[in-house]
Amino acid sequence: MKAIILSGGKGTRLRPLTYTGAKQLVPVANKPILWYGIEAIVEAGITDIGIIISPETGGEVKAKTGDGERFGAKITYILQDQPAGLAHAVKIAQPFLGDSPFVMYLGDNLVQSELSLFLEKFNTKSLDALTLLCPVSNPSAFGVAKVDEEGRVLQLIEKPKDPPSNLALVGIYMFSPTIHHAIANIQPSPRGELEITDAIQYLIDDSSKVEAYQLKGWWLDTGKKDDLLEANRIILDTCLNSNIQGDVDEQSQVIGRVQIGKGSTVKNCTIRGPVTIGNDCHLENSFVGPYSSIADNVTLIEADLEHSVILQGAKVEGIHQRIVDSVLGQRAHLKVAPRRPKALRFMIGDDSQIELS
Ligand code: DAU
Repeated sequence: MKAIILSGGKGTRLRPLTYTGAKQLVPVANKPILWYGIEAIVEAGITDIGIIISPETGGEVKAKTGDGERFGAKITYILQDQPAGLAHAVKIAQPFLGDSPFVMYLGDNLVQSELSLFLEKFNTKSLDALTLLCPVSNPSAFGVAKVDEEGRVLQLIEKPKDPPSNLALVGIYMFSPTIHHAIANIQPSPRGELEITDAIQYLIDDSSKVEAYQLKGWWLDTGKKDDLLEANRIILDTCLNSNIQGDVDEQSQVIGRVQIGKGSTVKNCTIRGPVTIGNDCHLENSFVGPYSSIADNVTLIEADLEHSVILQGAKVEGIHQRIVDSVLGQRAHLKVAPRRPKALRFMIGDDSQIELS
C-alpha cells in the first residue's frame, strides 16, 4: 500500500498567508498541517508516500518536510505544474503509484479518527474506493454524498448549490488501481478541474465496489481563517502536554498546559494554557490566553492576546486591548506608540483584514 498527499493548489482562501507560503505549511499548534497527515499515514503502517507539490510552493514544502526520515517514511515529491484538480494529481502520480492500492490524503485536512480502522475495511472487503463522510452545516462548500438507507453511496456531487444531504466528503480516500481507468474516462468539470468526485461517480456507475463510512470524531478542512483557529483550538485542547524549556522569570505565572521552547524568555507575563510557544521567542509584560500558538522567534512586549495564531518572526508591541480570534502572518509587526496615538499608520499586504473595534 502506498499513499499520496496533495500539497499543491493555490490556497486562495487563506490569503494573504498563502501569498508567501504553502497553505499546507501553515502551522496548527506550531506544527505544519501537512505533517499531521504524514504522521497519520505512517501510524497506519504506510511508509511509501508521494507528496504532490506545485511549482510556486513545492520548494518550501520539500525543504521543510525533507525525505521522510524524521517521520520514519520515504517521501517522493511529485510536481504538478498546475492545480488542474484532485484527479489530475492522481493522474500525474501514476508512475509513482504503479499498480499499488493507495490512500489519498488532502494536505489541508485534519481528522481525529485512526486511518487503520478504515484501511482494514478497505482491504478485507477488497474495495475499489472507500470514502469518508462527515455531517456539516454548510455542505455546498464540499463534495456531497447522496446515500440510501443502508448508507450505500448513490451519487457524489462536487460543491452542489442544492445539496442532496449534509454529508460532506472528507479529504481522505482509499483506492484500488481501478481509479486510474476511471480518471482516464472523465472530463474536466465546469470549474476546469478533473474532479476526484467524478472519478468515484464513474466507479459507482460502473458497479465497482465503492463504500462510504461516516467519521466519528472531528474533521477539519483548514481552508479558511476560522477553520484554522478551530483546528488550533482542538489540537491544543486534545494533544498538548506541558513542557517548559525556555526561561521563565519569577514575576511570571504559567497556568495549565503550556509549552515553551528552548531559547525563549518570558518576563513578567501571565500565560494561561493551553498555549504553545516556540523557540527563541521573547515575551515581556504580556498576557497570553488559552488556545494560542506562538511560533518561533516571535516577540510580544506589552501585548495581550488569546485564541490566536502568531506565525514565525512576528512582533506585537504596546497593544493593551485584547487581541482575539486573530492570525498574524510571518514577520508581521503590530505596534502602538506608548502614548495614545493621534494617527494610525499601516503597511498592510494585499487581502489583509484588520478590524479596529
Ligand atoms: O476538504 C474536503 C474537500 O476537498 C472535499 O469535500 C471535496 O470533495 C474536494 O474536492 C476537496 O475540495 P476543496 O475545494 O477543499 O479542495 P482544494 O482545492 O482546497 O484542494 C484540496 C487539497 O489538494 C489542498 O491541499 C490543495 C491540493 N490540491 C488541489 C488541487 C485542485 C493539489 O495538490 N492539486 C490540485 O490540483
